[in-house]
Amino acid sequence: MVICAGLARKPGMTREDLRDVNAGIVKEVAEKVYQYSPNCFMIVVTNPVDTMTWVAKKYAKLGKTRIVGMAGVLDATRFRHFISLELGVSNEDVHAMVMGLHGEDMVPLPSYSSVSGIPITQLISKERIKDMVARTQDGGAEIVKYLKTGSAYYAPASSIAQMVESVVRDKKRVLPCPVYMEGEYGIDGIFMGVPVMLGSSGVEKVYELHLTDEEKALLKKSADGVRKSVSQLKV
Ligand code: 2OP
Repeated sequence: MVICAGLARKPGMTREDLRDVNAGIVKEVAEKVYQYSPNCFMIVVTNPVDTMTWVAKKYAKLGKTRIVGMAGVLDATRFRHFISLELGVSNEDVHAMVMGLHGEDMVPLPSYSSVSGIPITQLISKERIKDMVARTQDGGAEIVKYLKTGSAYYAPASSIAQMVESVVRDKKRVLPCPVYMEGEYGIDGIFMGVPVMLGSSGVEKVYELHLTDEEKALLKKSADGVRKSVSQLKV
């Protein structure tokens, strides 16, 4: 089950600006899901997605393996695109990892991004990687600015399709998704993007990557952002 219900951003808005109104909508949907489809596997897309997935889990009463958000696949696809543009290589050969929250403080990880196994840190200068990281963090807002009337839909739809296919066809793909954290990376009780395996049983594995101190600090900042958003919920 894919939950997209809610308002989308308009130019100048952040995802957090949608929190209160979308929380009410997601709560209502999740309560119905609990009533009619208590054993479903749920993908939440509504923004701010890390917080809305938390709301959906609470009211649909789903276990950790039965619910994820859609964010990291989209953010990593944007990062992949910028890497392929920079190097003039096919994006089919580019792998990219983006963890953390779905917002300005998301954490694109150049150290876990590569072209056919070649780390991008060996192919692209530090300066240019920094620009590409910033463009990835701002990717959603860039599209909203062009569309003017709403937020991105093509790339999110394609990301959702990949996630659904992995579950329905038991492909066991390893994709970054907001998942309920229970101590992984030292983080508890919130949803945040980390690599997970998606198969017919839902979230079949959560991967804990070795991160540098700098990467850990960025992830912590991301987690703090999600925690703050969840603490301000009125539902
Ligand atoms: C985006 O980044 C919809 O938040 C979504 O485009």
